[in-house]
Amino acid sequence: MNLFYGELAPWWPLLSPIEEYADEAAAFIATIEGRRPHARTLLELGCGGGHIAWYLKARFDCTLTDLSPGMVEVSRIRNPECAHAVGDMRDIELGRTFEVVFVHDAIEYMKTEQELAAAFVTAYHHLAPGGLALFVPDCVAERHEGGTEAGGSDAPDGRAARYLEWNEDVEPASTLAVTHYSFLLREADGTVYTRYERHELGLFPQATWVRLLEAAGFNVEIVEEQTDDDRSPRLFFIGHKPEAP
Ligand SMILES: C[S@@+](CC[C@H](N)C(=O)[O-])C[C@H]1O[C@@H](n2cnc3c(N)ncnc32)[C@H](O)[C@@H]1O
Repeated sequence: MNLFYGELAPWWPLLSPIEEYADEAAAFIATIEGRRPHARTLLELGCGGGHIAWYLKARFDCTLTDLSPGMVEVSRIRNPECAHAVGDMRDIELGRTFEVVFVHDAIEYMKTEQELAAAFVTAYHHLAPGGLALFVPDCVAERHEGGTEAGGSDAPDGRAARYLEWNEDVEPASTLAVTHYSFLLREADGTVYTRYERHELGLFPQATWVRLLEAAGFNVEIVEEQTDDDRSPRLFFIGHKPEAP
C-alpha cells in the first residue's frame, strides 16, 4: 500500500486509465439515481486518484477522501472543483452529512470484521436521515476468483507504466485475500525500472456484509451488477439510512 498508493501515486493516471471506469461509474450513478433521484451531495471514502469521482462529479456535488495524501493530491489535480480531505474511512470525521456515501474498491482494504464495521459506522454517521450508502467491493468471499490481470498506458511525454496483478487463490474459509503487484515504469528519459508490492485484502461472506451493515443501522439492499466482463458479477451493497431513528 505504501508503494502503490504512496511513492507510486503520481503514476496512478497511467497505471489505471480513467477511460476504464466509464461503464461502472454509469452503473453506480444509475443505481443511486434510481433510489434517490434528487440527491446532490456525495461523500466518497477511499477515492484514490479520483477516477470514479471524475464521472460522479458531473451528477453530484462530491467530497472526496482517502487515507493516502499522495492519492488525494492526484485526485485534487483531476477534480479541482471537488472538496478533498485526507482521512481513514474507519474514523474520519468531517463534521457534516451527505445525501449519498460511496465506497468503491477501497473497502477491500478493511481486513477484519472490526475494520469493515468501522467503515460502515463512518458511512452511516456521515449520512443525512434517509440517505443512501453504496459499497462496491470487487468480490465477496463466495465469489473470489484467483487469477491475473495486466494493464497500464503511455503518456505523451514518454512516461509509461505497466502492471501485473496476481490474485492468489484462497482456501474456502479464508477471510484474507492476497494480491501481488508488479510494476514496470518508464521515465520520460527512457529509464525503465520495476517495483513490487504485496497487498492483503479483507474477504467476507455476503452474510457478514449484511450483518455488519444492519448492525450499523442500515436497511440493506443487494443488487447484482450487469456485466459482460469475463468474471463473476459484483454485488452492490446498498445501505438505506432510515428517515427517523
Ligand atoms: C484502488 S485505489 C481506489 C481507486 C479509486 N476507485 C479511483 O477511482 O481512483 C484504493 C484506495 O484505497 C485507499 N485506502 C486504503 N485503505 C483506506 C482507508 N482505511 N481509508 C481510506 N482510504 C483507504 C488507498 O489509499 C487507495 O487510494
